[in-house]
Amino acid sequence: MPVADRVEELRAQVTQLADSCRTAQELMQKMVKLLHERMLKYNWVGFYLLEPGAQPPVLVLDAFEGAMTPHTRIPLDQGICGAAASSGQTVVVDDVRRDPRYLACSLETKSEIVVPIFVFGGVVGELDIDSHFPAAFTPEHQELVKHCAVLVGKKLEVAGR
Ligand code: SME
Repeated sequence: MPVADRVEELRAQVTQLADSCRTAQELMQKMVKLLHERMLKYNWVGFYLLEPGAQPPVLVLDAFEGAMTPHTRIPLDQGICGAAASSGQTVVVDDVRRDPRYLACSLETKSEIVVPIFVFGGVVGELDIDSHFPAAFTPEHQELVKHCAVLVGKKLEVAGR
């Protein structure tokens, strides 16, 4: 199946998943599993959420699929994860060895995407995906991952977070 079709199919599946899940927690857990299982190049998929009330702010690992990571708590001035959360911008890194911000999770990781999650206009967390393949996150993948982050943001808004 061409990658565009696969991305399109998965987009429909995550949308359906969001409709069927009652809580953001359930959605995050099922979403990481689905993305990890269905996409050959999504080798680590996880959510980080800002710890409520923490000062200075810190990202805390939530639902994930893939190898355990040493980075379970990430301050906003560290890593690709901190860069995405503090700027509110998606960060795509085609070659992690060339990005001095990168915090290593697995030696096999070659590329990474981190998409912030917004609730009522403010960043509350992010969706982080690592790939064993260089430059895995082409524009069509970026669009899919952003869609996933929006679905979780909407679910968190409903929960009144
Ligand atoms: N690589 C991330 C750290 C998280 S692990 O990839 C799961 C970063 O640079 O922030």
